[in-house]
Order: sequence, then structure tokens, then C-alpha cells
Amino acid sequence: MHADIVVLPGDGIGPEVTAAAVDVLQAVARRYSHRFTLHEHLIGGAAIDATGTPLPDATLAAARDADAVLLGAVGGPKWSDPNAAVRPEQGLLAIRKALGLYANLRPTRPHSAAIGASPIKPHLLAGVDLLVVRELTGGIYFGERTRTETSASDLCSYTVAEIERVVRRACLLARGRRGHVTSVDKANVLETSRLWRDVATRIARDEFPDITLEHQLVDSMAMHLLSKPRAFDVIVTENMFGDILTDEASMLAGSLGLLPSASLGDGSVGMYEPIHGSAPDIAGQGIANPYGTILSAALLLRYSLGLSMEAGCIEQAVDSALEDGVFSADLAAGGDARSTREVTAAVLERIETTC
Ligand code: NAI
Ligand code: MG
Repeated sequence: MHADIVVLPGDGIGPEVTAAAVDVLQAVARRYSHRFTLHEHLIGGAAIDATGTPLPDATLAAARDADAVLLGAVGGPKWSDPNAAVRPEQGLLAIRKALGLYANLRPTRPHSAAIGASPIKPHLLAGVDLLVVRELTGGIYFGERTRTETSASDLCSYTVAEIERVVRRACLLARGRRGHVTSVDKANVLETSRLWRDVATRIARDEFPDITLEHQLVDSMAMHLLSKPRAFDVIVTENMFGDILTDEASMLAGSLGLLPSASLGDGSVGMYEPIHGSAPDIAGQGIANPYGTILSAALLLRYSLGLSMEAGCIEQAVDSALEDGVFSADLAAGGDARSTREVTAAVLERIETTC
């Protein structure tokens, strides 16, 4: 098949990890006789430097026309002046909103070979297989902000329709898994959470009688995620809670650098990115973990292009590399650490030989 893929490297380690995923996509194209046309565009701080805006019109237009978007990460100290009129993160929020990407899928499945990198006791991790579905285009990240000399406010609001569509997506995904959905909110305090809970209850009851739905408050969920991670299958939650809980969930897998994500809407374009940020502390050193972005490319093939076999090939290649101890510095715990390029080469070699 032929597919147009927009690549948005962004800032910090973004260009390093997207370059790895691009190499992997090209290897898959060769192996399975597909043609992927990759178009690179600006976003985030790199876009601010070049054009003055974090999401140039050309980037958004290219993304709208593409079959899928692969993104690295945005942000960094250079653009982090709190009083700056434009910030890299605005570009990310704006593209998610403009493409209607309301469901952010963040799977976590600790790999047995990388379990040593996790701070959690190994017996708690065996068999963990979670999918967090984070609402991505509503809530407090998109509400009105105010600031005066003496106060500030951020508005959190959700509509019934926004909650319905993401809960529905989570229930559909649970059908293809173990049929269990945990909806996370703060309904004991927040009105948006009480609405969230009512809507989730109704959608599950009326449309998904085959799914079991439970509710958890976000604070105790933060604890349960570490104390009994095997108890969860699909977790659906609002934007900020999902952002925080998935960084926490990454510790089950061993590193933030391992986790991929897929952002989907009702339209045809999906966006794929690792869950981590631009990691300015290690940017430019060639040591970033590219697995999360490579696995995001696998999700791109599966969800946007319908290429499940090819996606499985990438996931198998990653599993095999981890199995063989191909660890970047964040996973190596002081042991033998491979560079971003060496990790990528190990995955490429396995795509050519094992799938
Ligand atoms: P971060 O996710 O960039 O880094 C947190 C820690 O994890 C750092 O110590 C970093 O070195 C490490 N880490 C992250 N990804 C890694 C990888 N692939 N390999 C090895 N180590 C990795 O979060 P932080 O430091 O809070 O934010 C840095 C910048 O990134 C900020 O400007 C922030 O706004 C931005 N950011 C952007 C996101 C995005 O583009 N989606 C998401 C989160 C933060
Ligand atoms: Mg985050």
C-alpha cells in the first residue's frame, strides 16, 4: 500500500527518537513492499524559532491531508519563560484539538526482560496488561485561564458528548481485551467528575452490557496502580488525570521511554507519539530510549493503516531486542547501555530477519 505520513520531530530528544521510528517504518515498507511517503514538518519550539508560531498552518494542513502523523515531543528550557506569549506545548494541544483526537490510547505491558528497570516488586508486575484511554481534547488543559497579580484560575469543563465518545471508545477497546473498564474521576469533589461518572455509568449500562465497569477515585487509583496493577484492563479518564496516571504507569514497564501512544478521533487521521516529553536533560547525547516511539510507529500501522501484521512485526522485534538485553541507558541500571542508534539497529536487524 501507499501511505502519506507526516513526521513532526519537535524538540529535545524528539528528533532523535522520531529518526529511529522513521528508520523502522522504512524497514517495514521494504520488507512488506509498501510505500510510505514521509513529510517532515515543524511543531513546538522548533516551529516557534522558525516561524514565530508553535503550530504553523503548513504543519496543520499537511497533517489534515496525511494518513497519519508521527510526533516526537515538544518543549524545553529555551521556550519555558512563563510569561512568553507563545509556548511549544500550545502547538501540541492545538494539533490534537484541530484533528479532533479525543482518545489517547496508552498501553502498558511490562516486558519480562525489562522488569529489572522497574522500581516495583517483580511479583506484582507479571501479567500486567493495561490500556489507559485518556481524554485528550477537553478538561482543564483546554479551559479558560486567568491571571492577575494576586490570583490565577484554570477552568475544567466537560460536555456530555465529550465524555460519551471517549467512554464509548474505551468500552469498544475493552471488548477486544478482557472486557473490564475502570473509570477514574474525583466525583467526591468535582462537578465535572460527577457528570463523568453519570455518563460513564449510563453508556456502559445501555450500550455495553457485556462490559463490566467500575469507578475509582483518582487518588486511590494512583495507589492501586502500583499495589495491584494486574487488577486493571482498560482505564478511562479525563485529560489531566490520564496524563499523570500514565507517567506513573510507565514505572510498571520500567521507563517513561518505553511507552507508546495513539491519539484517535472519529476522522481518519491518527497521531502517534511516545508518552514522554522532550527530555532536555539528555537531548543531543544520542542516548534517548527510542522504543516508545518505535512502538508508536507500530500503533500507527495498526490503527491508521490497518497493517496489523506489520505492526506485530515491529512489536516482536522490540520484544526480541529487549529479551536479548538491548537496553538504552534508562533501562540498563548502570549496566551495558546502548545508544539510540544501537537500539534502533538491533530492532532493524530483527525486522529484517525474524518477522
Ligand atoms: P520528560 O518526559 O521530557 O522527562 C522526564 C524524565 O524522563 C527525564 O529525566 C528524561 O531524561 C527521562 N526520559 C524521558 N523520555 C526518555 C527517553 N525516551 N529515554 C530516556 N529517558 C527519558 O518530562 P519533563 O522533564 O517533565 O519535561 C521536559 C519538557 O518536555 C518540558 O518542556 C515539557 O513541557 C515537555 N513535555 C512534552 C511532552 C510532549 O511533547 N508530549 C510531554 C511531557 C513533557
Ligand atoms: Mg505527560
